[in-house]
Amino acid sequence: MKFWFINGVNLNMTGTREKSVYGEETLGEINEEIKEHFKGDDCVFFQSNIEGEIVNAIEDAAADGADGIILNAGAFTHYSYAIRDAISSVDVPVAEVHMSNVYSREEFRHTSVLSPVCRGVVAGFGKKSYILAAESFKS
Ligand code: DQA
Repeated sequence: MKFWFINGVNLNMTGTREKSVYGEETLGEINEEIKEHFKGDDCVFFQSNIEGEIVNAIEDAAADGADGIILNAGAFTHYSYAIRDAISSVDVPVAEVHMSNVYSREEFRHTSVLSPVCRGVVAGFGKKSYILAAESFKS
């Protein structure tokens, strides 16, 4: 299968920022573990702090024939109608992912404008959230 792992704003700081919430591993290290876990599959990794580049990546994943998009949009999750519309625009199923349990955190993190147009949501399992989300696309 072909998976696109798309990370949004501030996820490039994983391993450096708020280590007690997001852990000590960098996004690069997490992506290496994901690649190892899905070694029989085709995995594409993308990260940007720019909202429009996340929109482009979702469109690119669809054009690339992805079977599933695993999306941690970071704080964009809570307010980006542009990313929501991009998800609605493609036929590829999208799994919304969060490393932290957003529901045990600040109130503003309890709202996702993306969830209604995603296939499902995985939150709170650290780096494993990405793997659990991608596994959900396997039969
Ligand atoms: C996050 C949760 C968001 O609320 C936050 O803005 C992030 C990361 C997570 O992975 O837990 O940047 O998506």
